Amino acid sequence: MPISDCKIIQLPKIADPRGNLTFIEGGRHVPFEIQRVYYLYDVPGGSERGGHAHRDLHQFIIAMSGSFDIALDDGVEKKRFHLARSYYGLYVCPMIWRELDNFSSGSVCMVLASNRYSEADYIRDHAEFVRVAGEQARNSGP
Ligand code: TYD
Repeated sequence: MPISDCKIIQLPKIADPRGNLTFIEGGRHVPFEIQRVYYLYDVPGGSERGGHAHRDLHQFIIAMSGSFDIALDDGVEKKRFHLARSYYGLYVCPMIWRELDNFSSGSVCMVLASNRYSEADYIRDHAEFVRVAGEQARNSGP
């Protein structure tokens, strides 16, 4: 899918002097049904995560604490996002190569995913990703 489908989505924020509150409701705030939640934490400085694409998985990535960068690549175009707040996140559609880096100390990256973990859904080799993405683009072309 093209990188233009990936976008920052703002979440509701109930501002309160006692502490802010944000919520995510299934079927309303993210463009897929949530089947799994996982999070990265205790990330050492200088770490890089990701370095793969998913064939069918949709994801929504939030910086629950701290900040980090996400580089996206659809095989043709590249885009970089900086996530730094817990009231918005980045929607990543299937067939996008992603790399996460520049984690601040104490950062927590929460990911909502459209399916349970499946290693078969991963493409971990970038050359293979470019080949499969190119094939899909040609098959869906005019
Ligand atoms: P991976 O997705 O490669 O990490 P990242 O993209 O964040 O760098 O996953 C790292 C390891 O954790 C890998 O062995 C698979 C395992 N894993 C699960 O068992 N369940 C999960 O939901 C996820 C995301 C990973």
